[in-house]
Amino acid sequence: MKLRVFDGRRLVLAVTGSISAYKVVDLASKLTQAGALVDVILTESAQQFVSALTFQSVTGRPVYTDLWQSVSGGALPTHIAHVGLAHDADLLAVIPATAHSIARLTHGMADDLLGVTALAATCPVVIAPAMDGSMYHHPAVADNLERLQQRGVWVIEPEVGRFASGLTGQGRLPETPTLMGHLRRVLGQRGPLNGRHVVVSAGGTREAIDPVRFLGNRSSGKQGYALAQAAVDAGADVTLVTTVDLPLPIGVYPVAVESAAQMRDAVLKHAEQADAVIMAAAVADFRPLRPSDQKIKKQEGLGLTLELGRTDDILLALQAKRQQIGRPRVLIGFAAESDQLLTNARRKLEQKGLDLLVANDITAPDAGFAVDTNRVSLLHRDGRQVTLDLMSKAQVAERIIDELALLLA
Ligand code: CTP
Repeated sequence: MKLRVFDGRRLVLAVTGSISAYKVVDLASKLTQAGALVDVILTESAQQFVSALTFQSVTGRPVYTDLWQSVSGGALPTHIAHVGLAHDADLLAVIPATAHSIARLTHGMADDLLGVTALAATCPVVIAPAMDGSMYHHPAVADNLERLQQRGVWVIEPEVGRFASGLTGQGRLPETPTLMGHLRRVLGQRGPLNGRHVVVSAGGTREAIDPVRFLGNRSSGKQGYALAQAAVDAGADVTLVTTVDLPLPIGVYPVAVESAAQMRDAVLKHAEQADAVIMAAAVADFRPLRPSDQKIKKQEGLGLTLELGRTDDILLALQAKRQQIGRPRVLIGFAAESDQLLTNARRKLEQKGLDLLVANDITAPDAGFAVDTNRVSLLHRDGRQVTLDLMSKAQVAERIIDELALLLA
């Protein structure tokens, strides 16, 4: 699936000689599927592990292996390949980066294609070290990585686990989704929300009945996580106040909560420094008034009556905060409706003082809870409203973040 953050971007992916190089074939494939134009450089030692043909097959583009040899079908004449590859690239990623290649990059060695490409590059540079744990922690490697970081290179921390050698330690190359997450974070930094702080809430709240039981709802949190990812892709710093445990987008600061009251406290606290709050969470409107400290025992022949009270409305509290301190500057809410979608949604927008309201019909089978698609209408404070086609939650999130960027501009 095409992803806006990668679509049409030119990435130079340099692969160096680590056994983990085989994993990067998958990365090159996923980046290509996401719409990126991936130019692969293989160092001499990388070619001992993976072939140029493998990468050429998944990227559909020539693979560069040699500073001196012309690439058949390559877009660049040989004599300028080294400058040409880095020129107008959006990103240079060295994945995996061996201890040797890290040392070479640190010292600006220029006797192979990767070395000269790195020196000629003016785009952001990302490296993903991969090596045995003892090598990774050696002061020589640690010093080199520190110097590269000081120069603005983005270093993806290797994971702890088992190596091909059978030893365990820190030095494993992360899996493709994590690597993609880092690349998104770096590419996003040129986006329209760069330097902005966005708070997103996600998931359904849980209101305790006793230590084991709660009142909940069907929200999966997927739309909220997609919004957090789309905001990162646009360059924002994102705080995600969440009740669920889905894979966290790289660059998102998570705050785990359960109840509506915990969500209110967390959202209000982080909203004080925020440019925008997006309330995608399904917040309970009612909670058991007197949750029991002990597990409630059943009694023969008796049911259970719970007395419910109201929870606070978080968006109303945010509106009050904005009037008081001017932050958050933009408030976006959701409306889950089962009838009279647009009328109810317009009323909610006005009552809650929102800049934008995202309305979805929860009775549609391809929209709302748990599924990966959504069908929403966007209602603006100034009266404009558009109904979007059925699309993935990721695409819905991109559209909402586009609107947010316009509201903040
Ligand atoms: N919301 C909130 N605090 C609550 C309940 C809801 O901030 N205690 C937010 C939701 O996160 C959402 C918006 O208000 O962005 C609308 O939520 P929804 O459940 O559709 O509306 P309610 O205000 O609860 O109204 P009703 O249940 O009567 O439709």
